[in-house]
Amino acid sequence: MPAQSQPEAASLPPLPHWEQTPADLPSAIRQIKAALRARIAASGRTAEEVFAVVEQQIKAEVNEITAARERGETSWPVIDYASIEAGTVPAQAQELLRRRGCLVVRGHFDRDQALGWDRDIVDYVDSNRFFETYRGPGDDFFASVGSKPEIYPIYWSPAQMQARQSDRMARVQAFLNSQWKHESGGVQWFDPGRDSLYPDRIRRRPPGANSAGLGSHLDPGTLDLWLTQGFQQAFRHLFDGTIERYDPWDAAYRTAAAQYPGSTMCSVFRTFQGWTALSDMARDQGVLHTVPIPDAMAYLMLRPLLADVPAGDMCGVTVGQAFPASEKWHPLLLQALSGIPDVRAGDSVWWHCDMIHSVAPVRNQQGWGNVMYIPAAPWCPRNERYAASVQDAFRTGSSPSDFPAEHYERGWPNRFQLQDLNDTGRRGLGLG
Ligand SMILES: [Fe+2]
Repeated sequence: MPAQSQPEAASLPPLPHWEQTPADLPSAIRQIKAALRARIAASGRTAEEVFAVVEQQIKAEVNEITAARERGETSWPVIDYASIEAGTVPAQAQELLRRRGCLVVRGHFDRDQALGWDRDIVDYVDSNRFFETYRGPGDDFFASVGSKPEIYPIYWSPAQMQARQSDRMARVQAFLNSQWKHESGGVQWFDPGRDSLYPDRIRRRPPGANSAGLGSHLDPGTLDLWLTQGFQQAFRHLFDGTIERYDPWDAAYRTAAAQYPGSTMCSVFRTFQGWTALSDMARDQGVLHTVPIPDAMAYLMLRPLLADVPAGDMCGVTVGQAFPASEKWHPLLLQALSGIPDVRAGDSVWWHCDMIHSVAPVRNQQGWGNVMYIPAAPWCPRNERYAASVQDAFRTGSSPSDFPAEHYERGWPNRFQLQDLNDTGRRGLGLG
């Protein structure tokens, strides 16, 4: 775009905001969409023109990704753990990581260590008669129907805690966090060197499994992304005529924005969502896919403002449900859905917190599909608040408050204990 003089953001029409879930959602959506369109128009270009800038840029990325796929190449960057530990990751590899927003860390943990953790988890749940006492899925979001769960609502096994507080995990998290801009305007939005140890679950999918997979969606929020003041500030460049300055790696305002409660919400700020493989997995066995374009968030946020979307509709986004990415509204983006390459136990897989992801269906799965979900959730006011409730859950063996209140581990004597925490674990839980 040619340089053009833009009015100062302060002189643009202000946006209404709702710090709590509005009672009348369609009405709030109508109001915010009209206000966003008016604000964008006052900045010198229409919403359609701003969207066209984003669309053109995204098209180029999509074309590159689909061309790579046709050549039989993966679009997923791969970096060896050893080079992260040695601090020798080439600038080019980091550039590709920021361009694609996702990463496989090869050899993050020793393969035998990861396979050992997988066995330890089985022993842990078996010794506590988990399968006999399992009451079925506590939510209808990730769990599948069946006598044995694939998602284990287990948070406090020694294996999980050892991985979360390990030096190797801390190094990779710090490396990933440092891809983000975490300071601006005299504010440190998060501390890239300290993780908040976000406890999440385990997936163990056995050989022969049939799974419908998981549809394309995003995790960072729902209507709050448009309706709260904090997120309006975080996405300010999309709405004030400075679309060219939108940076998906800028954490400004993100770690302070209000969130609407929901059964699938993640209370913490994650730079990357991630998991560590506890089994080898082949690329065609129902694995994770992403749309490896961090800038696609601009597309997702602006798309509802176009005239073909009904006034009270945000392209299907509503509270209490995952933010969907759909063929109806985002066909361009979904062309770029790219599966992970083959991974081995001990590799870890990461994707930018705003990126579209899905899990492919599989029939008669070959081999196990086992992962521990461990994200990069750096220390910041939001994560510090959540860490206080995590501390309680840890002490009592309860399910963390972001998850269904199943509390299987409360009476389990061999869960990870307070005295087993190292410095990283204590700092992550806010214990010093
Ligand atoms: Fe997700």
